Parts: sequence; structure tokens; C-alpha cells
Amino acid sequence: AQQGEPPHRGYHVGRRTAATAVRADVTPFSVRMPVPPVLRPASSGPAGDVYRIPVRAATAEILPGVRTQVLGYGGGFGGPTIRARAGRPVRMVYENTLDAPVNVHLHGGHVPAASDGHPMDLIQPGGSRAYDYPNTQRGATLWYHDHSHGTEAEHVYRGLHGFYLIEGEDEAALRLPAGPYDVPIMLRDSAFDANGELIFFGDPAERSTFLANGKVQPYFPVAARKYRFRLLNAGNERVFRLNLGGVEMIRIGSDGGLLPAPVPVTELVLASAERADIVVDFGRHPVGTRLVLSDGTTPVLRFDVVAQARDTSRVPDRLRPMPSFPAAAVERDVAMSFDLSGSFPVGLVNGRPYDPDRVDFQVKRGTTEIWRVINADTIGIDHTFHMHLAQFEVLDRDGAPPLPQDAGLKDTVHVPPGGSVRVRATFTDHLGRYVYHCHYLEHSSIGMMGQMEVIA
Ligand code: C2O
Ligand code: CU
Repeated sequence: AQQGEPPHRGYHVGRRTAATAVRADVTPFSVRMPVPPVLRPASSGPAGDVYRIPVRAATAEILPGVRTQVLGYGGGFGGPTIRARAGRPVRMVYENTLDAPVNVHLHGGHVPAASDGHPMDLIQPGGSRAYDYPNTQRGATLWYHDHSHGTEAEHVYRGLHGFYLIEGEDEAALRLPAGPYDVPIMLRDSAFDANGELIFFGDPAERSTFLANGKVQPYFPVAARKYRFRLLNAGNERVFRLNLGGVEMIRIGSDGGLLPAPVPVTELVLASAERADIVVDFGRHPVGTRLVLSDGTTPVLRFDVVAQARDTSRVPDRLRPMPSFPAAAVERDVAMSFDLSGSFPVGLVNGRPYDPDRVDFQVKRGTTEIWRVINADTIGIDHTFHMHLAQFEVLDRDGAPPLPQDAGLKDTVHVPPGGSVRVRATFTDHLGRYVYHCHYLEHSSIGMMGQMEVIA
């Protein structure tokens, strides 16, 4: 934004602007889906692994034959994958080569406040910063992304997002598909102008070009055996309703890692920032079969069964029990809404926009709380709710039992128009200030965020 202009210039809520997005005219399934490279540590020792990533402006080939300006972790569109192990600490060192402040949040991470990537705790241009992740949590599909207040939506949209996978000590013995058969897939939406540049300041509803690992409607060759896919919805404002044309997907994990037991499904609902680990058994299909992963009826990605393969992996009946939560000592309401009375929309939590100098409430370390998260808008807009620091259990929706997509440990939950969701979390150890917010990042960037302080 220019000096003096509000950071939300051009952002619209519940109002459509003239269409500026050009639907990227790409022949579906003409490019192969890449798998983001796993980053090698810069150094390793008894204290853990150190990784270094520059944050840079770069170009990437998202549309075939076109270079698009992006922001990159390490230079690509979508950062490298970090593979961590439960119990082994990681230090991430980021160097900011952009001319704007950035920071990095480990989404779903249970980390000290100083390493959380608080929205006001920034890496200035030319600066660098280390984040320490103890990985004292269950194995899970996490992701890292920018969280610089007011600019997180644009930064993430332009490419500052990547996978951070923690492997649990319990996982190897389960013999789930692993190695090359364990594939993270980042799904998101985007809009391009006639020159192939990403349009951010437009109507999010126009972001109708779907990407899988940074390519438009790619194909992915697979062997006739089981695969584990770690699906992430990295779209800023999107609910994906995914299907494989009626073919079974076995859901094995959620935001917080493995479910107690596998759940076979034919549809997966994934709102912004949610993850689903699934196993698909291509061994049930002859070589030559093509299976299309679609959002409703819109194709996103095609799996081509191209070869036979040995398969000694399995999906055991029992995966990982849910942790038990103590009885809750505190109940709170957290209501997300918009104030549309001025010339620009303002996001609100419990009636107030985010104020970094205000602590909305204090949480006593060691306590368990129930939060009733409410979509208080009357304009028919979705929200997804994300809590930093703690992963939670979804108790109910509008007083009724949770939905299939609420199973397992969660850190992000879809709250549809008019809906409410009760979640329960325990605040075990770390102290300090952490935010909670709507993960429709355009909403958090204009104020739909609150701040808690965990105290001793
Ligand atoms: Cu995915 Cu507060 O972030
Ligand atoms: Cu929202």
C-alpha cells in the first residue's frame, strides 16, 4: 500500500467488483505436480537441526511458459518441506531480503511465545531471525507461513507458505505408506491477470484457478499401491469439498496428526488452513487408470496409475488415541464478525478489532478451557477459527455432534454462516501472548483477531 492508504485497499466483503481476473487458460493435466523438496539442515548436532531460509522476491512458472512474480521461501513459490522428528528441536533461521517486514508462524506448532511469529514481532528488511521449535508435540502435518500484521494475507497469497512435518515416535511401527509414498499436497486458489501476474487486490471469489503444489490442475504419476497424501488448504478464503469421483479415501489424520482410527470417506471438506492426511490405495486400480481429485465438479489434480509396485505398507485399525482432556475450568465466547458501517470493512472479535496493545483475556497455565466460537455475521460469510499454541478437541456444533471433518486434534475449524462450534483446549506449559483469529487471512489482516496471555 502507498503511504497513508489503509492496508486493506481494494479489499471487499460481501460486495463484488467488476471481474478483473482472467481465468488461466491452461489445458488441464498438462503438467506434472512437483513434490516440494525436503530441506537439508545447514547444521545438525546433539541440540537439534538448524535450517536457513532466505525470504525473497522471485519468479515461478505457475502457468505453463509464463514467469509470475512471487514471494518465496528460498526462492520458489511454496517453500521447501521441513521434516522434523518429535522430541528433536529445530531452529529455523530466516533472512528477510524483501523491502517489507515479514515474520514466520509455525501453524499448529506448540512453541514458546518468542518463537511463535506473533503478528507484531517482525523481521525487518535486511534482518534475520531464529525461531526455536521444541517439537514436543505429536507427529502432525503442520505448515509455516507469514504472519506480519496487515500484510499476512498478501504475503501468503503471493507464496510465503510451506510444509513442516513432524514425525511421531509412534509412526514407523504403524507401517503407513512412507518415503516416496508419503506426499504433501498444498491446495490453494489464485487469480491471474492477462500478463500472468497474481491478482491480490481483487475479489477473493474470483480466485478460481486451483493449484496443487503450485501448478494449475497438474497430473501426478503413481504406482498401483497405497499412498499417504497430506492435504493442506493453503487458500486464503476457501472451503474445498474434495472427492475422487466416488473412489474411497481413507482419512488417517487431521491438523494435529493421526486419528484414533482410520475413516473411509468419499468426500473431504477442508477449509482454509485445515489439513487432512489420507491414504489412497491405487493397488485396487489397474495400470492405466486415472483418478481425478475434484472440488465438487472442478478438477484439481489427476492421479495416473502408471506402474506396478510392491506394497508392504498398511493402514492399521488403530492409529493413535486422542489425548484425554481434563474438565474445563473456564468457558468463553469468541464471536467473529465484520463492522461494515464505514468506508472499509473492519474485522471484529467480540465486537472489537485487533489491538496489539490489548490483552483480551488471560489464561492460567495448566487450565483447560472451552471456547464457543461463533460466526456472528449476518451477511452469509464463512470464517475459519485458528488458535495459536494449543490444539483442541471439537465438542459440538450448534449443540449437535461434530462433523466428520472435526475429528481428531484440531487447531483450525470451519465456522459457517450463523454457526457456532465449541472447542476444548488445555494450556499446558508455555507462557506469554498468543493470538487467535479467523484464518480467512483477509479477515485477520483487517482486525478479526484477538490476543490472550498465558500466565503462571
Ligand atoms: Cu496459520 Cu495465526 O495462523
Ligand atoms: Cu473470517
